[in-house]
Amino acid sequence: MMFPAVAVTMLSLLSVGLSAPVIDCKNLTRPIEIENREQLLGKWTALAESTNMPGSQQLTKLLVGNSWVNVNVTNDVDVLEFVQYQKLMGACYSIRVNMTLANNTLSSGTPLMMRDTLLSTSCPDCLVVYAESPTTSSVLTGLQFLSKRRTVTDAEMEEFKKQVQCLGLPAPAVLNTETALCPEDSQSQETQTTDLTDTFKTMGDDIMRAMDEFLTSGSGIKDLIKLISSNVFEKN
Ligand SMILES: *[C@@H]1O[C@H](CO)[C@@H](O)[C@H](O)[C@H]1NC(C)=O
Ligand SMILES: *[C@@H]1O[C@H](CO)[C@@H](O)[C@H](O)[C@H]1NC(C)=O
Ligand SMILES: *[C@@H]1O[C@H](CO)[C@@H](O)[C@H](O)[C@H]1NC(C)=O
Ligand SMILES: *[C@@H]1O[C@H](CO)[C@@H](O)[C@H](O)[C@H]1NC(C)=O
Repeated sequence: MMFPAVAVTMLSLLSVGLSAPVIDCKNLTRPIEIENREQLLGKWTALAESTNMPGSQQLTKLLVGNSWVNVNVTNDVDVLEFVQYQKLMGACYSIRVNMTLANNTLSSGTPLMMRDTLLSTSCPDCLVVYAESPTTSSVLTGLQFLSKRRTVTDAEMEEFKKQVQCLGLPAPAVLNTETALCPEDSQSQETQTTDLTDTFKTMGDDIMRAMDEFLTSGSGIKDLIKLISSNVFEKN
């Protein structure tokens, strides 16, 4: 006797559903203590990220080649300097932000108020950063996966994807870290790195307004993605 195909399909789906491992979201979204600032220092490669900003994953995949951050001490014992390097459509940009470490939270001041906490991870040389940024209309949240290594194991990436899922964020954009990272020193290299720190500081209010628009209108960013895609593909 033969089962109808649809019954077999349903049975197999059910059994897959039943045998699927239960995701331990409580453990996967557990904040961890930042025991000392030394554990944050040095060079970290961004491997993947997800945010609740509509279209941000598509935008990241479309525009961002890769990204890394250098964390250094400052004269102030509670303040760390984050220099983020980002390759955007082949060009290199950097931005310097000071963040204050207190109560297991890293906070930046204006223009972009960020509150970063770390979530537990089984990856020994990774950081899983949960970021919150209040805008005037809502709270921008995101989860970023960074490592001292350029690549992580599939299991480590899977764990991060589960963390993203547990937080109800969209599937993350996974960055291509095999390509050359932006140089730290802009003088001695072929690739020029443009420092956007001052631009960012003076543009602060505009950035916040643009962010609010992205957050409140999904269609605005869809049009932007269409526009960029058509330009990218016309060039090729
Ligand atoms: C960290 O900052 C100090 C000065 O505060 C500087 O001498 C050093 O080169 C910096 N290290 C890195 C890795 O940027
Ligand atoms: C960060 O703070 C240090 C002093 O601790 C200061 O020299 C530096 O300019 C600040 N960087 C930014 C990007 O504000
Ligand atoms: C420290 O963080 C905890 C949990 O986020 C919060 O309840 C508490 O008020 C904070 N304390 C200070 C001094 O910021
Ligand atoms: C929680 O996660 C850690 C790794 O982040 C793991 O070693 C531990 O076994 C997990 N605990 C539970 C109860 O699942």
